[in-house]
Amino acid sequence: MKIIMLGAPGAGKGTQAQMIADKYSVPHISTGDIFRANIKNGTELGMEAKKYMDQGLLVPDELTVKILLDRVAADDCENGYILDGFPRTIPQAQVLDKALTELNDGIDYAIDVDVPDENIVKRMSGRRACLACGATYHIEHVPPKKEGICDRCGKELVLRDDDKPETVLNRLKVYHEQTQPLIDFYSKKGVLRTVDGTKPMQDVFDTIVRTLEA
Ligand code: AP5
Ligand code: ZN
Repeated sequence: MKIIMLGAPGAGKGTQAQMIADKYSVPHISTGDIFRANIKNGTELGMEAKKYMDQGLLVPDELTVKILLDRVAADDCENGYILDGFPRTIPQAQVLDKALTELNDGIDYAIDVDVPDENIVKRMSGRRACLACGATYHIEHVPPKKEGICDRCGKELVLRDDDKPETVLNRLKVYHEQTQPLIDFYSKKGVLRTVDGTKPMQDVFDTIVRTLEA
């Protein structure tokens, strides 16, 4: 099972990707989480990525593509994976397509989690993230059991640097310009499925599962 999660920043890609990964026991691969882990560990890649991320811009394809291709070549990806946040540009999608075609393989579904821009800014200001394990919470919709502490690993939860309202608006602009064209790209391949991401999380998940098992 190879799945791509599409959708605006804050649409709930990460939330749904983690739920799908848990249900089907395949890895959840988020390029954003990979970059944030590198920033936290002070690696060269992290320092370079941070320059772009803090402005709400995309990290250049040259940096992103290699990391992703190395990651999907790992042993734990043998039975599939959920990609969250990749591809984000047409060139990234073409590279992935070529790599899979060479293996006689392809993407099974690209799931577009559809949420209008108006809902996004509100969601982002309430999000809290664990930079240690990648878990995501929301102060109203998905509060952690203990305020400010990750349920999964016990580390501190933070407001992401790029979740400030002005950066969110920039991320939305970048999304519409560079990432939204992927909806057409995967629609033409016949693998696009759109779900209404404004519904409660469990409803969104149930719809995705029905799609995958149809
Ligand atoms: P990335 O980490 O991928 O961020 P993003 O796409 O902006 O997505 P988010 O993680 O912000 O949101 P999400 O859709 O996963 O929503 P979530 O589930 O958390 O990328 C960050 C940056 O890294 C990029 O800006 C770029 O610079 C760089 N980058 C990453 N990949 C790249 C690539 N391929 N190429 C170039 N650059 C790249 O949900 C949001 C909130 O809403 C949460 O609080 C959640 O609890 C809540 N929520 C979720 N679902 C619901 C629901 N149904 N109802 C109510 N609340 C909900
Ligand atoms: Zn954690």
